[in-house]
Amino acid sequence: MSQAATLVLRRPDDFHVHLRQDADLGAYAREASRVFARVLVMPNLVPPILEAADVAKYRSGILEAAPGMEPLMAFKLLPRHTPAQLAALKAAGAIAGKVYPEGVTTNSEDGITDLRQIWPLMPALEELGLVVCCHGEKPGVFSLDREERFLDEFAETAQRFPGVRLVLEHVSTAAAVSRVRALGSNVAATITLHHLEITLDDVIGGNLKPHLFCKPIAKRPSDRDALREAAFSGDPKFFFGSDSAPHHKGKKECAAGCAGVYSMPVALEGLVDVFDRAGHLDRLDAFCSEFGAGFYGLPRNHGTVTLRREPWTVPDIVDGVVPYRALEQMPWRVATLDHSANPVNVA
Ligand code: NCD
Ligand code: ZN
Repeated sequence: MSQAATLVLRRPDDFHVHLRQDADLGAYAREASRVFARVLVMPNLVPPILEAADVAKYRSGILEAAPGMEPLMAFKLLPRHTPAQLAALKAAGAIAGKVYPEGVTTNSEDGITDLRQIWPLMPALEELGLVVCCHGEKPGVFSLDREERFLDEFAETAQRFPGVRLVLEHVSTAAAVSRVRALGSNVAATITLHHLEITLDDVIGGNLKPHLFCKPIAKRPSDRDALREAAFSGDPKFFFGSDSAPHHKGKKECAAGCAGVYSMPVALEGLVDVFDRAGHLDRLDAFCSEFGAGFYGLPRNHGTVTLRREPWTVPDIVDGVVPYRALEQMPWRVATLDHSANPVNVA
């Protein structure tokens, strides 16, 4: 654990966030812009982000709410998309298509049942340089086995189309980590803050903790340890995607609670804490501001964020949502954001 009182990081990226829509969008976008220079925005709205016009409209709504942050746009990729629609999506600013297997998470009822259903679109996706982001869970399988059972079709897809970049989102198992490692350089994975910390026992091992319920569900200690090892390892295939997924308090504390952890209010502070306690602060910049940008072919961000070792207590509610680590003490606080600083010699 480092004893330094301040820490200067390059302004980071978050390659998987949910900013929602309508009256909720402004607050969630501003919360993300508190520290992140760029966020890859997930398209599972109602109705979903499917076409070029949806991308353009959603992007301008986010920019209006949070002008200091660059939204990176994703659309929901469906087998019925045509190459012409994909080209228009790309022209409207999309950098990725997100694949949702049917019914495995929030607003995925229109999802696919097998990744092979998008194979006919792979040549167009390759030509356009669009990244395919996969929610990696197999529909209809026992919930703890869904991710592992998705891996074969994911690997087959990655090997058959080496010119298409694929991201396995929010990995939650040791099996997924080792499969991503074994596949080619067209494959990467995002890891969330909460999957680096919690296991299924934190969700259901004592009293039920609905605010830790998310998809994919947190798993065994050995899975969490594999995720930590991957995040700390300096392997560029693994980078940060918070999967910050706000649902109003009443939608979580009820008889059929929504899946999603709202980690954005503590995202960077939490990562600093996890990496610091593990003695790997020197690996954090790469995990949250270099590897993702490298995989997506984006330049590194300008600007820095400075954190101070100064305890603070996470609020019990933020914009109507119970945040991750609510009421817990965080050892690091974000002190300043400098949009123009040249991040040389960052930690
Ligand atoms: C996300 C949401 O609420 O949109 N929920 C979640 O549990 N992670 C969707 C997702 O990324 O699976
Ligand atoms: Zn998500």
